[in-house]
Amino acid sequence: MALFWTQNNLSRRRTVVFASALTAASILLAITAVGSLPAFDESSPNASARTGEPPFDPLGGLPPYAVVPYGNEFALTPPMGWNGYNHFGLDVTAQTVRDMARELVLTGMKSLGYVYVNLDGGWDLRERSRTGELQPDPKKFPQGIKPVVDYVHSLGLKFGIYTSAGKRNCANTSAGSFGHYQQDADTFAAWGVDYVKLDWCFMPVREYSFMSHVGLSQMLAKRFGAALAATGRRMVLDINDWIDTSTSDWANSLGNVGRIAIDIGDTYPSMVSNFIHDVAHYRTAGPDHWNDPDMLEVGNPGMTFNEQRTQFTLWAELAAPLIAGNDLSDMTVEARAILTNASVIGVDQDRLGAQGYPVTNRKGHWVLSKPLLDGNRAVVLFNQTDKPALIRTTVADIGLSGAKTYQLQDLWTGEVHETDNLISAFVPPHCAEMYIVAPVA
Ligand code: GAL
Repeated sequence: MALFWTQNNLSRRRTVVFASALTAASILLAITAVGSLPAFDESSPNASARTGEPPFDPLGGLPPYAVVPYGNEFALTPPMGWNGYNHFGLDVTAQTVRDMARELVLTGMKSLGYVYVNLDGGWDLRERSRTGELQPDPKKFPQGIKPVVDYVHSLGLKFGIYTSAGKRNCANTSAGSFGHYQQDADTFAAWGVDYVKLDWCFMPVREYSFMSHVGLSQMLAKRFGAALAATGRRMVLDINDWIDTSTSDWANSLGNVGRIAIDIGDTYPSMVSNFIHDVAHYRTAGPDHWNDPDMLEVGNPGMTFNEQRTQFTLWAELAAPLIAGNDLSDMTVEARAILTNASVIGVDQDRLGAQGYPVTNRKGHWVLSKPLLDGNRAVVLFNQTDKPALIRTTVADIGLSGAKTYQLQDLWTGEVHETDNLISAFVPPHCAEMYIVAPVA
């Protein structure tokens, strides 16, 4: 059965509902408790670069669920940037890209690490040229893609593009790359592209009916990665196989980024659903192989301020790509404050590259712990539920020991507290608190 999937692009209502900023006081007490640390798998072998692979073979030469890191060192920290799809749908033009690139600089986001300016689906026509080239939509990109890339580069930013591993893009408005992997990789390299989002639509399942979905996906991802590598240009590979919930078990061995769930919607339940999908896969994430719960909805109208802040907090704890998905030229002070919280971004970008893992989840009262390079922990207390909750954990439970006193720095308020073991906060509904926990003495 062919996989046809059409995206219902951006028929969302844009009612702006920003709740007032979170004001609940954190209650920090001290007790002693002992807990166990869930296994954190740092044992993945360090993959060598994917160059020198044998020529393409129809079965891809890979065992199912290979979890060897991609290893080309193009994404040693989770990619950060902007992508137009969540706000503009398929309607991004050359002007939009130039405007958003400028905004990344003007808002200070570039200096915080948001460097990728990424096109999503809809930039090219449904038919290829006579010579088989992808054709930018002349209405959206009258001068083609190269001058837009050059402009983005002139601002010190990087440029990302989108294509599908199958025969069409997911909205069925553009050609897909199937049958043209090397040709398209060469085109992207010639334009100066730095990042490729490889989507998963109109897959050639009939031609490969003897293969499982995972087998076919692995084979195509491997083949596309080889095409990118053959260009000699550094291009991050973002594998967007949203169809398969096991993607994170294999995609991170074949690309720098692997989607773990269906598209995020601009709603709290959708955001939480993608968080829950992602958090289960903490063992497969690390430098050069990040799990992707999809792009940010911060600054879009569907979630309250608190919910947007929660998304940003959770995504940072998950070491997820931080790809803003809003109109940067029309951003509230609150949205900008979320996207530019340098401390939270620092957790996401921590060079250890560990994804935060669930310490506990008691009926939607989550405690997450993310090991950091300096030995400290980033801890999140997330109240998924609709009622306020006191969420408690301990220093021991989040994986630290050996000191009598620990400092807790609240990354949203900047407040600093001390504890000898208990970490506890009154968390309003749909909110998440984030602390750096560090030994003092
Ligand atoms: C989906 C993909 C989205 C977006 C969209 C564009 O398949 O998951 O992230 O790229 O296609 O049509």
